[in-house]
Amino acid sequence: MISVAIDGPSGAGKSSLAKRLAADLGFVYVDTGAMYRAIGLYAVRQGADLHDAAAVAALLPQIRLDIRLEGGAQHVYLNGEDVSTAIRAEQIGMAASAVSAHGPVRDFLLETQRSLAAGQNVLMDGRDIGTVVLPNATVKIFLTASAEARARRRCKELQEKGQPADYATVLADIRQRDEQDTHRAIAPLRQAADAIRIDTSEIDFEQSVALLKRTIQEHS
Ligand code: DC
Repeated sequence: MISVAIDGPSGAGKSSLAKRLAADLGFVYVDTGAMYRAIGLYAVRQGADLHDAAAVAALLPQIRLDIRLEGGAQHVYLNGEDVSTAIRAEQIGMAASAVSAHGPVRDFLLETQRSLAAGQNVLMDGRDIGTVVLPNATVKIFLTASAEARARRRCKELQEKGQPADYATVLADIRQRDEQDTHRAIAPLRQAADAIRIDTSEIDFEQSVALLKRTIQEHS
């Protein structure tokens, strides 16, 4: 079985690239950020203080997450409700980043993530896949891009969806998430020693697909 771990900062294009690569290579795509987002969404709905580890941990027994593959796409069910669209809001991304700093939240998701990788060829993306979740992954990729390149792409995506996009705000949000994700005490975002670093600042989507595909094929 082949497992490909793709880690990197938010907005580096991990999920769109991973989705495309999984389809091309016939692998299952597992989006671990979606699981943190579902917990973030629940905590926001409950009005919890997202930075209070004990308050967020107290919510976990009320949460049942189901990850289902439907028509090749991953759907996340929170207590039976399909929240796959709701978790994509910017505010929920920030909430996910906050709740993901808490140890009990990470422990809560670890086994689910590992079990999804067992027995099938997977491509899993997140922040700590190569370092914590799948330390023995067949191929580890650290996908990155400058904060400015990521903010430009994010603005373009938002504009395409007809949503307001202010470059300075998007860039500030990206920097804040980088700061939170890299500086937390538990499972911070960092490149695994044996990961291959790929910077997509200067290459477009199709070039990134080709480069990643070649890298995965060469190392598996
Ligand atoms: O990849 P994403 O933007 O959907 O992830 C949302 C947040 O979840 C991200 O800011 C940090 C957290 N996360 C994490 O801590 N570990 C992962 N493996 C995936 C996401």
